[in-house]
Amino acid sequence: DSHFFSFSDGILCCESVALDELARQFGTPLFVTSRQSLVSQYRSFEEAFASLPHFTCYSVKANFNLAVIRTLAEEGCGCDVNSGGELYRALTAGVPANKIIMAGVGKSEAEIKYGLTSGVMMIKAESISELKAINSVAEHLGKVAQVGVRINPNVTAETHPYITTGDSKEKFGIDEAGLGEVFELFKTLPNLELHGLDMHIGSQIFDPEYYVAATQKLLEVLESARHLGFDIKWLDLGGGFPVTYDPQKPAPPITKFAEKLIPMLQDKGVTVIFEPGRFIAANASVIVTKILYRKKNQIGKEFFIVDAGMTELIRPALYQSHHEVLSVKQHDRSVVADVVGPICESSDFFARHRTIDDAPEGELLAVLSSGAYGAVMSSNYNGRLRPAEVMVDGDEVTLTRRRETYEQLVQNEL
Ligand code: LLP
Repeated sequence: DSHFFSFSDGILCCESVALDELARQFGTPLFVTSRQSLVSQYRSFEEAFASLPHFTCYSVKANFNLAVIRTLAEEGCGCDVNSGGELYRALTAGVPANKIIMAGVGKSEAEIKYGLTSGVMMIKAESISELKAINSVAEHLGKVAQVGVRINPNVTAETHPYITTGDSKEKFGIDEAGLGEVFELFKTLPNLELHGLDMHIGSQIFDPEYYVAATQKLLEVLESARHLGFDIKWLDLGGGFPVTYDPQKPAPPITKFAEKLIPMLQDKGVTVIFEPGRFIAANASVIVTKILYRKKNQIGKEFFIVDAGMTELIRPALYQSHHEVLSVKQHDRSVVADVVGPICESSDFFARHRTIDDAPEGELLAVLSSGAYGAVMSSNYNGRLRPAEVMVDGDEVTLTRRRETYEQLVQNEL
């Protein structure tokens, strides 16, 4: 995907558009998304799993900008939403409700109602109590809810501990011991139909064997559910497929996952659902940020102080994640420095002890791989304004989100 962000005449470009041009036009910090990158990632995912009856639901939590959702919807992709707000975004972007699956470990009654009245394709449940809640809302609406049950397969995928979800220690899903009661409940609650079995074992998972182990468990549950007479149509394996952040640690290609999973799932008589988020969005965007100041301290440490910070990309602070940082204009000399933001927190950094082009104050840096869990996790902490976002398609540029204003910062306060 580096293909969509590359240097031309010494200037970093997104597709055919120079990033310094975009900064001049829209200001900094600025999220820049390559439309072609999104489409190409989606298509490579589809190609890898082409021989498997499946349906891909982009996990909008990774990047819920309407233009991003719309781009994928135009490709035929469905959506995975985790809240009423995300459902609203997907519907607003024009995604048909019957292509949306609704997840979430703690959906409120209002959210369940919103999902059912919209007519989502499947609503997922993660506890016995939630199943009862869905049933009573459905009863009120005179509907029968098409339900998927999220299983906790107790597989501990190797990734950052904050993004592993399929382990018994975590809050997600219903474990094996609870499934008997779940099946019983479906027999007694008239406004629920069990159509899907679901899992999501975590995010940025490099080793396909974790998927294999968890899928094995899901298939066992499928067997027992069918044995009890349930008509299971969907087997949802969740998301979590990895991307390369650090060129020194490249992610395995998606075909490695497909090769293992397709034979296991091929003749099971189900449609397999995938919920990739990061895989589609992560490398489609960069943050363009201005070097405000440079300084060197007495122990010889150098800093680039830039105008973006953890309020725009919290991943380095929260998960110690690696993001490449490039000077938008290439220079012959380089320095070793920390790239830090303007927020009053020591964890406000993009890179530490990194070799970076010796770009002067006033020039631009680009923080790569910021498309997933970047803008969506942004905040107004320190009174920061959420940045503008643009989408590039070839040489065409579209503003997809306006920069916030000071007035917006206080608009809900009385
Ligand atoms: N499906 C479910 C039920 C999920 O909980 C998630 C992500 C996904 C799909 C999409 O996972 P992906 O394909 O993007 O790995 N903020 C963290 C990641 C949190 C992921 C939460 N759930 C980060 O920046 O690494």
